[in-house]
Amino acid sequence: MVAASLISVGTGTVEFAGTECGPIEAGAGETVLYSGLRSGLPLPYGCASGGCGSCKASLLAGRVRSLWDAAPGLTDRDRRRGDRILMCQSVPVGRCVVQAPLGDRPEGPAPVRVPAVFRERHRLGADTALITVCTEQRLTWMPGQFVHLVLPDGVRRAYSMTRPPAPRAGRTLEFLVRAVPGGSASRWLFGGLAEGDRILVEGPYGKAHAQSPPDRPVVCLAGGTGLGPVLAIADRLQAESAGRELRVYVGARRREDVVLTDRLAVLRDRGASVVVVVEDATGPELAGKEVHRTGLALDHLLSDLPDLTGHDVYLAGPPAMVTAALRRLVRGGRAAADRVFVDKFL
Ligand SMILES: Cc1cc2nc3c(=O)[nH]c(=O)nc-3n(C[C@H](O)[C@H](O)[C@H](O)COP(=O)(O)OP(=O)(O)OC[C@H]3O[C@@H](n4cnc5c(N)ncnc54)[C@H](O)[C@@H]3O)c2cc1C
Ligand code: FES
Repeated sequence: MVAASLISVGTGTVEFAGTECGPIEAGAGETVLYSGLRSGLPLPYGCASGGCGSCKASLLAGRVRSLWDAAPGLTDRDRRRGDRILMCQSVPVGRCVVQAPLGDRPEGPAPVRVPAVFRERHRLGADTALITVCTEQRLTWMPGQFVHLVLPDGVRRAYSMTRPPAPRAGRTLEFLVRAVPGGSASRWLFGGLAEGDRILVEGPYGKAHAQSPPDRPVVCLAGGTGLGPVLAIADRLQAESAGRELRVYVGARRREDVVLTDRLAVLRDRGASVVVVVEDATGPELAGKEVHRTGLALDHLLSDLPDLTGHDVYLAGPPAMVTAALRRLVRGGRAAADRVFVDKFL
């Protein structure tokens, strides 16, 4: 049985001013962003989680319900204006009309909402696990993208797939997840959910997907669970072009936080250069936790490769690491702004 909070019944419609698109029905919990993307509109967004502000729009008429009133994507000034909304956090109530900036064309598959079951929690360390869910219908995504898991109490959080989809489309989604103490989703993912429990998957979302031409060298920087999408991206890039130059830098806090070294070994066997860096290497050496260097992965990357203007760069992980990397790479003129693809785990 699907929990009551997961059943989608129509609650409103959204119209996008200035587009040919007519009124779009939005079911319970379906956001303005989801409704527009699902209908093929090239709406702007980043985190789809309320944090970045990329999906700001104006509410011209009607009412929306906010999923997260305090979402940092809106500033105090936005709130004072009164008509500003975050499309990713707004669910239409009745009929509403929204004015949003539009891009040129939608990127990748449109998101869908599909019922799914929780399949497996495979512990990798004290606070990290590989979480597997199976969707009822086939889903397709681009390596590096993420979905929202909508949990039985309605809490929704973003998680990035660790593998490309099976040929054409897949039903099995795997995520590398770190537990946040007391976290609303962590409570479910690290305890509350048992095998067979029903959840919803909404997606795919995300623009930091594998998109490098075969002859372009690539560098990936993964911090913590940012390793998940980086594995999917590296896997796809190697499959597309076996001989390409691919370097993967993986940062972790301590030796025990280094995970999935077997998958890193596969990348290396296929020709990638893999550098694992821990901030604190004082603990004992651990079997299967190969560490190459100490310090910050970003420092090592920039010291090895001071000029990345000819590379594509993929960044995934904690906001502090991604922000620092962007500052030093793009503002520092070391990488081309339009060739840096960012997945910030806000
Ligand atoms: C694009 C993206 C991809 C991600 N991929 C991964 C991944 O692959 N692996 C991984 O471990 N983590 C990933 N994350 C982080 C993940 O989504 C969760 O934030 C993390 O698991 C902690 O969630 P929690 O509910 O347990 O913790 P909580 O502390 O309860 O919530 C975490 C954060 O969610 C935000 N939030 C969103 N909505 C609300 C709301 N309504 N009320 C309060 N806070 C809210 C707050 O910023 C809060 O700090 C990703 C995040 C983003 C944005
Ligand atoms: S996409 Fe809505 S706040 Fe980031």
